[in-house]
Amino acid sequence: MKIAVIPGDGTGPEVVAEGLKVLEAVSQAEGFSCEFQEFDLGGERYLRTGEVLPEGMVEELRQFDSIYLGAVGHPDVPPGVLEKGLLLELRFQLDQYINLRPVKLFPGVETPLAGKGPEDIDFVVVRENTEDLYCGVGGFLKKNTADEVATQTAIFTRKGCERCIRWAFEYTRRRDSAKKMLTLVAKTNVLTYGHDLWWRTFQEVAKEYPDIKADYNHVDACCMWMVKTPEYYDVIVTTNMFGDIITDLAAMLQGGLGVAAGGNVNPDPGGTSMFEPMGGSAPKYTGKKVINPIAAIAAIAMLLEQGGQSKAADRIMRAVQVVTGTKMQSQTAGKMGYGTSEIGDLVVDNL
Ligand code: IPM
Ligand code: MN
Repeated sequence: MKIAVIPGDGTGPEVVAEGLKVLEAVSQAEGFSCEFQEFDLGGERYLRTGEVLPEGMVEELRQFDSIYLGAVGHPDVPPGVLEKGLLLELRFQLDQYINLRPVKLFPGVETPLAGKGPEDIDFVVVRENTEDLYCGVGGFLKKNTADEVATQTAIFTRKGCERCIRWAFEYTRRRDSAKKMLTLVAKTNVLTYGHDLWWRTFQEVAKEYPDIKADYNHVDACCMWMVKTPEYYDVIVTTNMFGDIITDLAAMLQGGLGVAAGGNVNPDPGGTSMFEPMGGSAPKYTGKKVINPIAAIAAIAMLLEQGGQSKAADRIMRAVQVVTGTKMQSQTAGKMGYGTSEIGDLVVDNL
């Protein structure tokens, strides 16, 4: 596998080092090889050179099977610069139209939901990743006057929602769970154009998957049920903006940003996907060697799964659960009972 590595800012390089350590061990054990190339991108580079995404870099990244991203973000970089100029730019240009967020409570990990355990919190959110309010369509009129008008338009296309919905049905079919249910999360009672398109497309594609239960929740109700009865869910498919919001809620249910991993996936043949821990660059923990690398290690498992190495991915996920279940005191940075690098070693020992 050819993997581009973007360690990024803050604690990004610290967690990426542990992910790569685990990758190296599992690839040796499973007998496949990986080729790496490191890319210097993020807030540090921007402050140093003024460049967010240098000319030609996307074309270079496109040559890789996957991108492994630590974190980008820097307190001195204004909001929007890296988000729009780097993260969204990569998603759009590499057409990573699926944002995949497994929500699984590992053994030994604390959830804020009273009375819920690992058997209750185990679902996946499939978020559309290229459309909606994220397109950057809109503008100002009479900016900075009392009459200012701002518009921000959500774009939904038949192609965009259909490819995401179809992928979600396929994913539900191959997912190892007894429920076999795909829940569309939207707001069809208010967004009567864009989400009507989603609704109609969902109903139509569902006919091709009679083995999957096609379910629907309004997004506000979904937030309620996710907290009250998370065990209800199997796979959720949703729009970009709603998906952004509900996946942060879901990340808390699974024990926080120290454990939550995600992928920006282009599932087409030859597509380049990007995998990352959901936590940010965590400036206050940078260099202290106390940040939790579990999410970054889980992101490696996702990368391998997408790259066709599911046996290696399973080995990592089993090892991670032994470590959370029998070794770690907490998933919070500084309270794990181990340092960042020791957690990586423990996962390697348990592969
Ligand atoms: C995420 C992040 C991004 C998003 C930001 C950083 C642009 O919150 O991956 O969920 O909104 O999609
Ligand atoms: Mn988000």
